Amino acid sequence: MKIAIIGTGYVGLTTAVVLSYLHHDVAAVDKDESKLALLHAGKSPIHEPGIQNLLEDVWHTIRFTPSVAEVVPDAELILIAVGTPPKKNGEADTRHVEQAAREVAQVCLPNKHYTLVVKSTVPIGTNQRVAEVVENVFSERGIRGNVSVASNPEFLQEGLALQGAFYPDRIVVGANSEAAIDTLRRLYKPILEQTFDPPSEFPRPPSYHLPPMMTTDPNSAEMIKYAANTFLALKISFINEIAGLCEAVDADVTEVARGIGLDARIGHRFLRAGLGWGGSCYPKDTAALLGVAAQSGYEMPITEAARAINFRQRERIVEKLRDVLHTLEGKTVGILGLAFKPNTDDIREAPALDIIRELLAEGAIVRAHDPIAIANARQALREKVNTNNGLHFTEDVYELPYDADALVLVTEWDLYHRLELRRLAKQMKTPNLIDGRNVYLPEEARAAGFHYIGVGRT
Ligand code: UDX
Repeated sequence: MKIAIIGTGYVGLTTAVVLSYLHHDVAAVDKDESKLALLHAGKSPIHEPGIQNLLEDVWHTIRFTPSVAEVVPDAELILIAVGTPPKKNGEADTRHVEQAAREVAQVCLPNKHYTLVVKSTVPIGTNQRVAEVVENVFSERGIRGNVSVASNPEFLQEGLALQGAFYPDRIVVGANSEAAIDTLRRLYKPILEQTFDPPSEFPRPPSYHLPPMMTTDPNSAEMIKYAANTFLALKISFINEIAGLCEAVDADVTEVARGIGLDARIGHRFLRAGLGWGGSCYPKDTAALLGVAAQSGYEMPITEAARAINFRQRERIVEKLRDVLHTLEGKTVGILGLAFKPNTDDIREAPALDIIRELLAEGAIVRAHDPIAIANARQALREKVNTNNGLHFTEDVYELPYDADALVLVTEWDLYHRLELRRLAKQMKTPNLIDGRNVYLPEEARAAGFHYIGVGRT
């Protein structure tokens, strides 16, 4: 199938590479010259496990271009995967989605049928708005167009994007037109029936079942995306709330999570207590959902509480440091991990940034390490990098503890699971370890010489 994808961010590029691997004829459009230059050279502009190798395999089959007009007229299906950044009031800004729809409609051939799919996460009602935008352009052009608009939300997890794209739990399609549903069913046929040969890096999991393609109306499909992310976000906030109480009553939240997770109705996943969620989705999508609710005059206290608990986790870690060091002024703190989660260099809404800002504000000296996100963190903290000589980044994790008063584990990179704790502790002025993700066993950290403090454990 001939496909044009607008936007080559996490969603757009992953989709382009996977659909091309499944033998579709893919063109990808992006206006960002620097991204295009990388893509033309076969290099991935995003860091995502496996994407570089897969891109190299299919790169020669994908056409990367800045021009919608060059690729849309011939396409059967057009996917919009542009960003929906938050506005000041938290609502998602759909300007880029509408602009993409306008540009598409300007170059659609009269009478030819197209399926225009919105993959970006958008407020409820956006698909309807996109259909209006398209119709308005057709009437300005004085032509009869034939475009079916469909919602097809994307559930990819950064760091696991390709695994999720090849082996999804479900595919959700919201459309009022049978033609659009039929096109999307043909698009996803190799995934729905799992007829493709798995790439060597992404073997089919032995227990994997064929995924359902759920069809519904566009508003419900848009709501499914927000509701899914909000539910996962509040599951994490729930266990973090329990973690706080565990600390007060001398219980261990990792044991509690294990015990409640054994109930099949609850399940084990997304019950890891710690520094909570960051990234490009949960903070933005929970805020956007509250924005949608506010517009409808509806209150969502559970979602509001999930957000408050999440951001409180960052403050609680700094409080723990204050308790153990008495003052942060002049103290040296090593930060293990800057990315919002492992296997990505994404630092959007990362807890590490808030923690570092607070530590610097209180006069601490901060030394930070991350396997791949230092460049992004340096850029995000550039005002501090330029004005505060207490902030240092290091590529060598074993340089972090030198003469430090405390280490804080913020991101649970694999590398940190394998650290020689004894070697770290020995170099420190005072061997305090605040484990913001409960990576280490308390007794092991203590045996290595650390004063160990986790989240929700005694
Ligand atoms: C999320 C959704 O999972 C995905 O379906 C959607 O398309 C986009 O948003 P992502 O933000 O990439 O994906 O990461 P995810 O793996 O869901 O983790 C989000 C955050 O929650 C991370 O900061 C992670 O550290 C935190 N988390 C996750 C916990 O604190 N505890 C957990 O048990 C699980």
